[in-house]
Amino acid sequence: MTARLVVLVSGSGTNLQAILDAAADPSYGARVVAVGADRDDIEGLRRAERAGIPTFVAKVGDHTSREYWDRALADKVGAFEPDLVVLAGFMKLVGDKFLARFGGVTLNTHPALSPSFPGMHGPRDALEYGVKVTGATLFVVDAGVDTGAIVAQAVVPVEDDDSVETLHERIKVAERAMLVESVGRMAREGFAVDGRRVRLGG
Ligand code: GRF
Repeated sequence: MTARLVVLVSGSGTNLQAILDAAADPSYGARVVAVGADRDDIEGLRRAERAGIPTFVAKVGDHTSREYWDRALADKVGAFEPDLVVLAGFMKLVGDKFLARFGGVTLNTHPALSPSFPGMHGPRDALEYGVKVTGATLFVVDAGVDTGAIVAQAVVPVEDDDSVETLHERIKVAERAMLVESVGRMAREGFAVDGRRVRLGG
């Protein structure tokens, strides 16, 4: 059975594109059934449109409260009956209502090696701290900020002449490969979350 993925984006969508490219091969085991965003006019949505995949937008500002937004987002995602929800550069925290429906099957990717440097500025914070390696972390979303159980991590070196941009680009290359590999395995082999430990293969 091919797993149904809903991918949520807020920006350029290169992680989404990596999944779309991989999923073009039926043996990948997963396909993107919809792409959602918290804003319009972004390249991530255009990538989905070019691939002929349905899109939707749920903006926080269009709702009377964050909670209503969260519920609306969950409804829009739920309409596509996903097996997995992938937050790929989605710059909003999902809330209780969303997690009540999709907790345990929602993945996020963070451009740092958790538990270091959570939040919006992983590459900048790693560079400022002076670490010699950093990377990306794929995790099962929980109520915290980048705190969920870890599915996979990818490591990249920090170079002496790195800027935030060059470091983030290096991270993103590793991040995309990690995401594609892990989502495919989760779809094909299943997975189990046991406390903080995630095991692929059920
Ligand atoms: C990724 O590095 C993601 O981890 C971070 O923002 C970037 C999104 O890139 N939160 P893209 O939109 O997939 O190109």
